[in-house]
Amino acid sequence: MAKRKVILTGDRPTGPLHIGHYFGSLTNRVRMQDEYETLVMVADVQALTDNWQNPGKVAENVHEVALDNLAAGLDPAKATLFIQSQIPQIAELTVFFANLVTVNELRRNPTIKSEVEQKRELFGAEGESLTYGFLGYPVSQSADILFCRANSVPVGADQLPVIELTREIAQKFNKLYGKKVFPVPEAKLSEAPRILGLDGNAKMSKSLNNAIYLKDTPEETTEKIKTAKTDSEPVIGYDPEKRPEVSNLVLMYALSKGMTPQDALAELGNVNYSTFKPVLAEALNRHLEPLRERRRALAANPDAVRQVLADGLKKATRKARSTMRLVRKAMHIAY
Ligand code: TRP
Repeated sequence: MAKRKVILTGDRPTGPLHIGHYFGSLTNRVRMQDEYETLVMVADVQALTDNWQNPGKVAENVHEVALDNLAAGLDPAKATLFIQSQIPQIAELTVFFANLVTVNELRRNPTIKSEVEQKRELFGAEGESLTYGFLGYPVSQSADILFCRANSVPVGADQLPVIELTREIAQKFNKLYGKKVFPVPEAKLSEAPRILGLDGNAKMSKSLNNAIYLKDTPEETTEKIKTAKTDSEPVIGYDPEKRPEVSNLVLMYALSKGMTPQDALAELGNVNYSTFKPVLAEALNRHLEPLRERRRALAANPDAVRQVLADGLKKATRKARSTMRLVRKAMHIAY
């Protein structure tokens, strides 16, 4: 049998995962696990690059993110789920890769630039408190991807510049050290349109209190939808440019029913918000019911989740060791 291609992706455990993660990336990776050798990382080391003052928060969410992935259908028999900090080879590779990237490249990286801007509180308006760790997280993420020699990386569009850096590092490494150690991985963008926050903000996020979590109860979900922002038009519509908030709700309905927003709109008809919102809540809750059921069962059995992570660690470690053998040889440090 031909060797299956490897994909690696991950989530920062800074909060439980929400329906933006779910429709945007979890469903995608769950679909891919049949075709690819799939590795999913709980990126706790990366979460610490902007939460170093809050290690407790990161630790708490490692388990939540693992639960969310498993509840969404990630199957431990097919995929490898593991915790980033338990693979020291990733940190080791980060050090070697650091020589292949200039500080200016990192400063110019659009992902870093926009995140530093969003985090004025943490890094100051001029970025004068930007840490070495945060500036360098794309290098560490390249190590996340390359430690298992992944061929492809399912991510959101905001991550493309980081994947581009990973490609450059892989090519540079191979060229410099004269061995074809790393594949040049490709980004795999999710096709689903991005879900906005319930307030119309570009992202669902915990700090903005505008997210529906996979772990929310149906009642909490219904309540959040009830208070979600709309606009002053009398009926629903789908026009993400002109009516972002309402279009976002229609999109959530469409994704819950597995249809396009246009078809969803045709099915719903010209209804007002107070008619539409309960219909949306019902559709979303129904769609999430099996996931939430699995989540409840898993949450009641923490040992089973620990076992999944322990098995994942074993499998990921095997990959890390064989990559490091190649790296050490290529870099003339296999003493
Ligand atoms: N940076 C990603 C995010 O914020 C999370 C992540 C960490 C990741 N390591 C990764 C994604 C490796 C893909 C591959 O969503």
